[in-house]
Amino acid sequence: MKKRWLGLAMAVMMAASLAGCSSQTEETEAPAETEAAAETEAAEEETEAAAEETEAAAEEGEEAAAESPFAGQTLIMATNAEFPPYEYHEGNDIIGIDVDIARAICAEMGAELEITDIAFDSIIPEVQSDKADFAAAGMTVTEDRQTQVDFSDTYATGVQSVIVTEDSEIQTIDDLAGKLIGVQQGTTGDIYSSDDFGDENVQRFSKGADAVQALASGKIDAVIIDNKPAQVFVSENEGLKLLDTAYAEEEYAIAVKKGNTELLDAINASIASLKESGELDEIVAKYIVAE
Ligand code: ARG
Repeated sequence: MKKRWLGLAMAVMMAASLAGCSSQTEETEAPAETEAAAETEAAEEETEAAAEETEAAAEEGEEAAAESPFAGQTLIMATNAEFPPYEYHEGNDIIGIDVDIARAICAEMGAELEITDIAFDSIIPEVQSDKADFAAAGMTVTEDRQTQVDFSDTYATGVQSVIVTEDSEIQTIDDLAGKLIGVQQGTTGDIYSSDDFGDENVQRFSKGADAVQALASGKIDAVIIDNKPAQVFVSENEGLKLLDTAYAEEEYAIAVKKGNTELLDAINASIASLKESGELDEIVAKYIVAE
């Protein structure tokens, strides 16, 4: 598909430069008027060629969607819409980076997207039991999860960050020892902090925002959560700040049921084309939070 597009583009460029050449050779004899006319003609031809190209590309897109084994199907995406800017509620809608990416992927396949919003730690079981076709939830690729689902190529990176109150004595990760840390249940923030600081020092919440509320009201000492939602929560709550230090760096990917290579391949192809066309960057930029 890409190659054909390139070939067309080159043909147009060659036609354009040929038109340029011929008007040059004519220059000596041809009166100015004819030359201008020739140029207009060449320009018209170019526009026509460009229009044909766009048409061809659109047809190709439609063809690709029609060829997709998922054309006409409805694909169910499992997520937990408590994770701005990746997925969150706006009125009755669920929006965010993951939602836009999933929409773009489905559009490319000619499939419909349906979203099921569930607890974060139910997402993998939902995919495993075929209740959802894939998961897009700012989900970090971990070795343990890789034994449960298959992950797509990664489409974003995340950093586990620490939120504390502005007047907190906690300045580094080490200062978290012995403190009460709030996390969203089942997330990597939960897994890592339980490992590093002990189960008894970790308080689990069903939503990240609830952990942040507990911090703001002095019930816990810190929240460990991914950097992008952390920035959103800090900007929405007075008296909170982010530590400068990163707790862990990770990569986000889409998950499908183990062995569902047909869907995984289609998702990976879409991710690749979204990366290449710059659409992925555009989606992310649309939801960027001021730091
Ligand atoms: N990246 C973290 C993880 O995979 C947190 C993801 C939370 N996502 C959500 N939609 N609540 O564990």
